[in-house]
Amino acid sequence: NDNGWRLPFPFYFYEGFSISTLFLEGIILAQELFQAEPSDIFICSPPKSGTTWIKALTFAIVTRTHFQNSTNPLLSKTPHDILPFYETIFSKRWPHIRQPGIPLIATHTPYTLLPKSVQDSDCKIVYVCRDPKDVFVSLFHFFAKVRFKEHEPISLEEAFEMFCEGKSSFGPYWNHVLGYWKASLERPKKVLFLKYEDMMTDTALYVKKIAEFVGYPFSLEEEEEGMVEKIVEMCSFEFLSNLEVNREGAVESLSKLSQNNLYFRKGKVGDWKNYLTLEMADRLNKITEQKLSGSGLTLNAS
Ligand code: A3P
Repeated sequence: NDNGWRLPFPFYFYEGFSISTLFLEGIILAQELFQAEPSDIFICSPPKSGTTWIKALTFAIVTRTHFQNSTNPLLSKTPHDILPFYETIFSKRWPHIRQPGIPLIATHTPYTLLPKSVQDSDCKIVYVCRDPKDVFVSLFHFFAKVRFKEHEPISLEEAFEMFCEGKSSFGPYWNHVLGYWKASLERPKKVLFLKYEDMMTDTALYVKKIAEFVGYPFSLEEEEEGMVEKIVEMCSFEFLSNLEVNREGAVESLSKLSQNNLYFRKGKVGDWKNYLTLEMADRLNKITEQKLSGSGLTLNAS
């Protein structure tokens, strides 16, 4: 238990991960009670790694024939209410986390803590992660806003120390990533492993990759009509962050604990350069290299 980030919900150290009490009960209950179906598609990520974006993209991909442009839920609801984290909504009384006609289920849960049936079944998993330096900077800003207002804000240096020690939401960050990375190597048809920075470089390419992977490939006709570009545009940081719903209001499925606009800050690669000293960056780079050594994975993007 460590509430060093001054958050309303403390972390519990559970099975190797720091997990907020906000999420823990749902994770444990789902382990006991949730039965995965082969048609389920899990959207997984550690916090501040592109969750909002991948939720929007996958939702837009799988529902692209359901809505006229002006009726798309992405225009009137935040991606977190369209696809709530299962750990926040799963309960004994309400184990129905599937939504009619939408095969997507979102989670921050580490791979090893997913319900066993998710690991064993043929359901799909799309995972996104990001350079830990940008994750830390993003998390620092996010936590500074959701902390208990009566507590002193945490300094960047203190927060950095906690992140490096793995004391952050669903940390240690590297362990979260490695769980899904190993699963993607063992079962490449089950787990699609993505990086935020790659998706930024050529979003259209990744929209097509994701669509194919989850079994909703674009037809030639759709491609010629510019459907891929439309989805890229509708899910872009610029577009989503300027919608009224994402500027105002709070996330219903998180009991309104966080404002929708907290999920849209800068949406850039390499913003860490504006906050971390070279020594800090060097330290985090070294931790990342050491933790990932021998895995074949790299995360230090810039
Ligand atoms: P920054 O704080 O670096 O700007 P998550 O969605 O996992 O909570 O991660 C939030 C991070 O993703 C924030 O990063 C946020 O700005 C960025 N983000 C949110 N929506 C995005 C989008 N549509 N495209 C790219 N980045 C996005």
